[in-house]
Amino acid sequence: MSPLAVQFDAWIRGLFVDLNDKLEHLYWQQQDKANVEGVGETLKAQLLEEGNQLIQALLEEGNTDEGFEQAFDLLGNVGLFMAACRRHEITEPSRERVSPLTQASALAMHIGASLGVTPRFATAHLTTHNRAINGVYKRFTSHPAERLFIDYNTQAILAYKRASESLMKVHHLGISHPMSLVLLKQVKQALLEVIESNRELFKELDTEAFFYVVRPYYKPYRVGKEVYRGANAGDFAGINVIDMMLGLCPANDISYGQMLVEKFLYMMPEDQATLRECMRTPNLMDAFLSALKGPKSDWFGPACSLFIQVCKLHGDTAIQHHNQLVEKYIAKPSQAMQQQHLSKVTASGPPIEVLLKELADLRDRRAAAERADIFTRHHDLKRLRQAIGVKHEAI
Ligand code: HEM
Repeated sequence: MSPLAVQFDAWIRGLFVDLNDKLEHLYWQQQDKANVEGVGETLKAQLLEEGNQLIQALLEEGNTDEGFEQAFDLLGNVGLFMAACRRHEITEPSRERVSPLTQASALAMHIGASLGVTPRFATAHLTTHNRAINGVYKRFTSHPAERLFIDYNTQAILAYKRASESLMKVHHLGISHPMSLVLLKQVKQALLEVIESNRELFKELDTEAFFYVVRPYYKPYRVGKEVYRGANAGDFAGINVIDMMLGLCPANDISYGQMLVEKFLYMMPEDQATLRECMRTPNLMDAFLSALKGPKSDWFGPACSLFIQVCKLHGDTAIQHHNQLVEKYIAKPSQAMQQQHLSKVTASGPPIEVLLKELADLRDRRAAAERADIFTRHHDLKRLRQAIGVKHEAI
């Protein structure tokens, strides 16, 4: 890392957090906690000036070509600064046509385009690619709710990734391979860990703190003239690899395909490559259904039973995400929020009811729910359950 990049990183890990903390403290004391207008103006000016100065120096230094890791990390730091400016409404995309953060935009676009990712901070910057120094990784604030949120996001992402890696290997070996049983057990274990992690998050995360102090840093913001949607914990390939390898969500479904296309550049380049490979790979559900047409074999029962359990668990994680996390931390507080702030609630921008419907459809695809209006695997899974003599959906 160049000395200037080191200096900027130290600022992000230190003074930047202090300034955000002080501003959060001021907002929190108000009757309307969502208001940021006219509050802490001196602190906001300090944040803007110090950030801009450090970024200007980096911009003048030019492309130091220190490798992917360093460049991606620097993009994250610029992005954290821009997201904080958005949070404190130093910038506001609906108010402007071009980001007033010209130096930060220029640096972010230079790095983002050269790496093949969006020129904003992404989930990976705060979760899987967030280096800790002496036990502390990068965050916006020192609020315990933010740490809790990032810890459990990272834990669930890592578990989903493990599940997806094992599933891809099943494809290479074939569903009748004895080792596929071992791999499917690994998938099952990893999904159980996602469920456990989500359960803890749901139990421990304070609703108000999340809604007013954590979530606002994940809003869309402008880089140059373009608005980039907010980061969310789903911006990694693993979850979609599971969707598609299990055959629960097909890449040629109009709304699912739309989501994939939109998501690519928010992921790490290695994840983009994995997702592309997966989109070209046949799914396991079709493999099991087609095995039904052949003669009965001993391998089928145990493998199919594990496959059905894995589908059930993947659906359970989606139900948990939607019915618990989204409901408790987004949908309910949004209802209570003053109308004037409502348009600013979601990370990706669409109105809350549109977003909730999209997420509910996604949940139902993953859970293979019985739906007449969208494609789900409800009837196919039923056929597989019948084939191995299981009557209900408990597995
Ligand atoms: C997307 C809420 C935790 C995985 C979303 C979205 C919301 C949301 C509102 C839609 C983003 C948007 O476009 O605005 C929450 C809340 C959480 C939480 C309130 C906890 C307090 C997690 C965790 C994971 C996760 C721990 C696990 C990796 C996803 C995924 C998506 C997503 C994969 C993309 C859509 C999809 O494929 O389902 N989340 N989330 N979320 N979140 Fe979460």
